[in-house]
Amino acid sequence: MRGIYLDNAATSYPKPESVCDAVDHFNRYLGGNPGRGAHRATLQAGNIILEARESLAALFNIEDANYIAFMSNVTEALNTALKGLLQPGDHVITSDMEHNAMARPLYVLSRQGIEWTQIHASMKNGLDPEDVRRAIKPNTKLITLLHASNLTGAIMPITAIGKIAREHDITFMVDSAQSAGVLPIDVIAQNIDVLAFTGHKGLLGLQGTGGLYVKPGLFIRRLKEGGTGSFSEHLTHPDFMPDHLEAGTPNTPGIIGLLAGVNFVRAAGVDKIREHEIRLCERLLQGLREIPGVIVYGPADSKDRTAVIAFNISGRDCGDVSFNLDHRYGIICRAGLHCAPLAHTCIGTFETGACRLSPGFFNNEEDIDRTIKAIYTLAKE
Ligand code: ALA
Repeated sequence: MRGIYLDNAATSYPKPESVCDAVDHFNRYLGGNPGRGAHRATLQAGNIILEARESLAALFNIEDANYIAFMSNVTEALNTALKGLLQPGDHVITSDMEHNAMARPLYVLSRQGIEWTQIHASMKNGLDPEDVRRAIKPNTKLITLLHASNLTGAIMPITAIGKIAREHDITFMVDSAQSAGVLPIDVIAQNIDVLAFTGHKGLLGLQGTGGLYVKPGLFIRRLKEGGTGSFSEHLTHPDFMPDHLEAGTPNTPGIIGLLAGVNFVRAAGVDKIREHEIRLCERLLQGLREIPGVIVYGPADSKDRTAVIAFNISGRDCGDVSFNLDHRYGIICRAGLHCAPLAHTCIGTFETGACRLSPGFFNNEEDIDRTIKAIYTLAKE
């Protein structure tokens, strides 16, 4: 792919060389289906999967890596947790900025008797944790929300909300799709009972990877049964983690890539990655705000947001702006509703959609300056 890639909120690109090399090396020289038998290849593959769990555990301060189940993406992780935790009559609290990965399963569940409250996250002041506290009812079973918006980058106050959940003994889940690898996450300090993650964004791994951390002692009904390589003599699926939530051959090459991605993130340091993204985000925000006719959405301060910036050029279709940025300037960004109609309703762009710029670790100041210049030219036309 050539050009300036600013769609890291959809999927990060490029991937570190170490990620590409690890996947290539596995496919060419290792092979093996992890945990299936006793030969060299299966044992090697099993060890790499274990290493991947341990590297993720170290990143998120998870005490026992076996409580991380690999899944195909954060959507599968959220579906598993929501459908495996909630029962008719239960009450669930989210923000009103949720991605469809959270909102669509909850919509289905709400038609089956689950009560769903959405807390407003105002564009100016963000989400007030006290609003979450006020929404708690005797039947509140789960508080769950995204850590950062995939539309505006707004960071949700998960530490304060986790504390409230703990005080009320309510399960707390975080969707880290837009934050894992770019914001610090500590499941112990932040009282996170369930953490859903994807591998192909800030963790710099491959598409088709992700997973779910579940606090020891918390039971989530599984959505599928199958081969695990363990206790094969029984027709009942194992009830211990991670096998309880994993069935069938995993995406071993993807998980190996994810291991390399997580190791890259840990070596670079989440704080350093964050500093770099704040610098780029500030430069981009400042440049866009100075262009007449450009409307920028989301928190004013870069410290309150990830490097995800939604904008529109007044009077122009966002799809047309994105098309022109790519075809005339080689600038790659997403336009439309970003699978987040609730968030668009929240910021008032449900009818128009928006363009979204999301720089990543491999972008630099020059990319940002060229983007500002191109948007300036389009806005003038
Ligand atoms: N959820 C991804 C995005 O926001 C795909 O673009």
